[in-house]
Amino acid sequence: MSTLAIIGGTGLSKLVCLDDMHKRVIKTPYGEPSSPLTFGKLNGVDVVFMARHGYGHTIPPHRINYQANMWALKEAGAEDIIAVAAVGGIHQTMSPSSIILPDQLIDYTWGRTQTFFEDDLAKVTHIDFTSPYSKPLRERIKRAMKADKMTVIDRAVYGCTQGPRLETAAEIKKLERDGCDLVGMTGMPEAALARELELNYACCAVVVNWAAGIEGDEISMNHIEAFAEQGMLKVDAMLKALTRESHINPV
Ligand code: HPA
Repeated sequence: MSTLAIIGGTGLSKLVCLDDMHKRVIKTPYGEPSSPLTFGKLNGVDVVFMARHGYGHTIPPHRINYQANMWALKEAGAEDIIAVAAVGGIHQTMSPSSIILPDQLIDYTWGRTQTFFEDDLAKVTHIDFTSPYSKPLRERIKRAMKADKMTVIDRAVYGCTQGPRLETAAEIKKLERDGCDLVGMTGMPEAALARELELNYACCAVVVNWAAGIEGDEISMNHIEAFAEQGMLKVDAMLKALTRESHINPV
């Protein structure tokens, strides 16, 4: 398995179990990434970790330098990226503490730099984005989770909102009518920038609350923290299974 990058979101600001761990600051032409990168090994696989919101969880979704982050991971030699992201569950099967591998997304963000192909172009470049997440990487994650007898939900549409506030109940109804099953704030432009850099990118969404209006009158931040903790244990198990599987079924 080539170098595996893990982007940690809310609830996952460090990986505790890496061997031979060291940190490195990577400079990019796009400014500073969210955090220095942590390098190490998991089950013998080279892993590089980035904290999307910074190690102290100080950078909100609309202020993340997505360009610098993706560039830094490419520069670090990553080929596969698992983007862990906290989300709200809209579809009834996607309850708090589940982990989901979405296969589609809808982008509702605005004012974020969406592309590396903005200025100084030799020619206008469009990328294919029909399937925003890497099919082969999703397959590998699925296979590893199944081998570990974990529940796999791998059909879901991720709606990416601007944040940092959570949505209104009416906004969630609209997202539901649009076909969204999950809602988060960081999936875009991250996925598109990864595609532009030809990185294999898959999202591992951790449901930390029911989206607004789905259940109850308000969303409790304390509950979000508790569900994030439970979900991250599953992410940890998935990562261990994936790196273990890579020895059995090398890619
Ligand atoms: N909405 C948007 N982003 C989120 C949510 C939510 O309900 N929960 C975690 N990230």
